[in-house]
Amino acid sequence: MTTLGIVGAGHIGSTVARLAVDAGVDVVIANSRGPETLTDLVADLGDHARAATAEEAATDGDLVVLTVPLKALGDLPVDAFDGQVVLDTGNYYPERDGRIAALDDGSTTASELTARTLPGARVVKVFNNIYFEHLATLARPDAEAGSEERSVLAIAGDDPAAKDAATALLDRIGYDVVDAGPLAEGWRFQPDTPAYGLPYDGSTDGQWSGGTAKRVGADELRAALEAATRD
Ligand SMILES: NC(=O)c1ccc[n+]([C@@H]2O[C@H](COP(=O)([O-])OP(=O)(O)OC[C@H]3O[C@@H](n4cnc5c(N)ncnc54)[C@H](OP(=O)(O)O)[C@@H]3O)[C@@H](O)[C@H]2O)c1
Repeated sequence: MTTLGIVGAGHIGSTVARLAVDAGVDVVIANSRGPETLTDLVADLGDHARAATAEEAATDGDLVVLTVPLKALGDLPVDAFDGQVVLDTGNYYPERDGRIAALDDGSTTASELTARTLPGARVVKVFNNIYFEHLATLARPDAEAGSEERSVLAIAGDDPAAKDAATALLDRIGYDVVDAGPLAEGWRFQPDTPAYGLPYDGSTDGQWSGGTAKRVGADELRAALEAATRD
């Protein structure tokens, strides 16, 4: 994999771009307003990054990170994602995204919704349960896979080869992986579950602080995924 497409250039998109560039991966990044609005970001990222339209970022990436609010799914250039492995960071926040009945009643998951919106893509859910600042600081690209220094991230997906591609990218930017199963199991690390955000937060009172990041190993993350319940 030599080029990572990133659709969405906000908190998570720009953080993943930085981690990828630092790991020697070329990045093509897009937002909703056009490449001319990303001049400062790509200048900051350096020679391995370029700004593009969402269509170009989806097409040109060997792998594509989709990191937009759920409410923007309907605005995506659907055909451009055909055949691509898409790493979906999306979460459902009704106050931001509007009410979505199939998510409210638990009959589907956010990344299954993404997969239905992009029928030609092979979707892997990842990066959604870690705060962007923690994602930046916990990456250990120089540490060996499985080492005590590394944190794990959960993935879910229906296509084993797509999961392998996601795992390889995560390894390159400095994370190990816990496989949470198919996309239908993605609810286990959606908002309001034990695996969501808090495990990576360094607060000592069990409350979310958004401050210092804390390493999360595979056993801890597996236990949090197992502890999830669905109403
Ligand atoms: N913030 C976190 O720590 C965090 C952690 C994990 C997961 N997430 C989830 O990841 C997703 C992205 O979160 P974020 O915090 O990075 O959001 P954000 O900072 O608000 O950035 C959203 C990005 O999406 C772009 N965008 C919106 N519609 C688009 C479209 N149709 N085509 C291309 N780009 C589009 C926006 O571009 P414009 O600015 O040009 O509109 C912006 O660059 C959300 O679902 C969020 O819940 C966030």
